[in-house]
Amino acid sequence: MMSSTQANTNYSEPEYAKSQDRAKMPYYTVDIANHLVPETQDLLEKYSKIPRDQQIEHVHFIRDKAWDIRAYPCIGLGVWLTPQLCRLPVYESILARVKNGAVLMDVGTFIGHDLRRLVYDGAPSEKVIGVDIVNHFDLGYEFFCDLGRFHGQFIEADFLSSSPELMALKGQIDIILVSQLLHQWDWDNQVKALETLISFTKPGSSIVGNQIGNQVAQSVAVEQLPSVVTWRHNQKSFAQMFEEAGKATGSH
Ligand SMILES: C[S@@+](CC[C@H](N)C(=O)[O-])C[C@H]1O[C@@H](n2cnc3c(N)ncnc32)[C@H](O)[C@@H]1O
Repeated sequence: MMSSTQANTNYSEPEYAKSQDRAKMPYYTVDIANHLVPETQDLLEKYSKIPRDQQIEHVHFIRDKAWDIRAYPCIGLGVWLTPQLCRLPVYESILARVKNGAVLMDVGTFIGHDLRRLVYDGAPSEKVIGVDIVNHFDLGYEFFCDLGRFHGQFIEADFLSSSPELMALKGQIDIILVSQLLHQWDWDNQVKALETLISFTKPGSSIVGNQIGNQVAQSVAVEQLPSVVTWRHNQKSFAQMFEEAGKATGSH
């Protein structure tokens, strides 16, 4: 794992992710217990051995530590407690592939919660990689109480950068998981990001995940931060973006 001293000079994220006064951020809800859904309760109880009656306190303790590292919207709101990957229809086939040796890379992994789910469900942790621009990985071990038994690799880097650890993975990944991340950019930057994700794949690889969408595909200004404009896809525009990125990378 790299150290947490990465300079934020080439940050590719929107303004709201950059370091700023936490007290002024609109994205902190004191009580996030409503996001502690049954799947997460189960994971904490059976994988991390945290009894149910201690989980709410544990969740808030770790959330506040994460918030101290960075005042990021999904951290303050607690939405990361609701799992993404295991709710996708494609989950069982992804799990089966990783159990059979496929390498999965979770881009924007945060504390590595989706990776823990895979491991709890029987995937070998040696086959999973988590990438994030900010190191919340140590906190992930603390949250899941699995230091020494979770052997996935964590890489602290902007996935759009030329970090040597990432360069070594170009063309090597069987499954890329990217959830709740692409929607932070406008159309052009999402295409650029997708092209970069494709560069990690090889023939037969998959890219899976979910992003915030809209029935009508359109540019949307972030509420309370109108200078940040994002593109919200519908099914058609999402497919069109893959078509565009596929052509640009010769992978369609
Ligand atoms: C909204 S969170 C989603 C976390 C998790 N994937 C999920 O679905 O719950 C987005 C994560 O992506 C990370 N991220 C954003 N831009 C990134 C980039 N360019 N490279 C690597 N990580 C990035 C953020 O630091 C954050 O942890």
